[in-house]
Amino acid sequence: MINSLYWGRSTKTPYELANMRLATRRAVKAHRAAEQAFRARGSELDIHRAYLAASGHNDFDLPYTNIVALNEHGATLHYQYQSAEVPTAHHAFLIDAGAEVNGYASDITRTYSFVDREFQELVDAVDAAQLELCSQVRTGVSYPAIHLDTHLRMARILADQGYVTMSPEAMVESRVTSTFFPHGVGHPLGLQVHDVAGFQESEHGGFIARPDGHPFLRMTRTLGEDFVVTIEPGIYFIDTLLKKLAATEHGKSLNWAKIERMKKFGGVRIEDNVRAMSSGPENLTRDGFAEIAA
Ligand code: GLY
Ligand code: MN
Ligand code: MN
Repeated sequence: MINSLYWGRSTKTPYELANMRLATRRAVKAHRAAEQAFRARGSELDIHRAYLAASGHNDFDLPYTNIVALNEHGATLHYQYQSAEVPTAHHAFLIDAGAEVNGYASDITRTYSFVDREFQELVDAVDAAQLELCSQVRTGVSYPAIHLDTHLRMARILADQGYVTMSPEAMVESRVTSTFFPHGVGHPLGLQVHDVAGFQESEHGGFIARPDGHPFLRMTRTLGEDFVVTIEPGIYFIDTLLKKLAATEHGKSLNWAKIERMKKFGGVRIEDNVRAMSSGPENLTRDGFAEIAA
């Protein structure tokens, strides 16, 4: 019985989609306020408060704890400290924050460079790759295939921008990409931020295993009509993972001077909420940002 309820939750009704669009708009407005607080050189706590004020949420009715990460804190994937200290310099800002309407969640990440061109180049490349990944969201497409393609796209960025001197294919094959992109491409979204039935085989239950070597992927199903999923690729400079990679045969293929230079920026993640249809995707998040800019 519960499996059948979970299964049904994947397909969003017009009422559910309307609430998810509203939850998106609520979050987008607050993302804009947070970016302004970053540009005004606020602390993480200042930025978090600006987000709350603009969203009308308090800490307890957010769909999940905001990740408000300045500078190298962006490399901590679930960073939740929200420091009250103003850093001596503002280099980068990664914010992963959502909103809720009638129980339905949005889950949005943006990354900003304060002024640095090299980091902006990385943000722009991840953003462009993310848009291409979003365009793959449609009915009948395997979600793990989008995840595997994300590894290849992140590898191309690492090669193009001179972080790693291996071919993109070799980087994926040897799992070097997992050092820079150590999480899954996303998950189902709805009443819960990490919604149910991501691995379910049928309405009766069952489990579709993750591809080998991808333990953090949160959904293995083929997309159905009106599923809503997140697409959230990223590239991070995470000390512990970099140290492990340095000790392998691939350590010599990394441009350590560039990587050291980028550590103070933490990392990049761009996350949108996307609806699958047979006619193509509806990107709730990009539509929300476009509407506010208009
Ligand atoms: N904010 C949690 C996630 O992106 O999965
Ligand atoms: Mn997410
Ligand atoms: Mn998120």
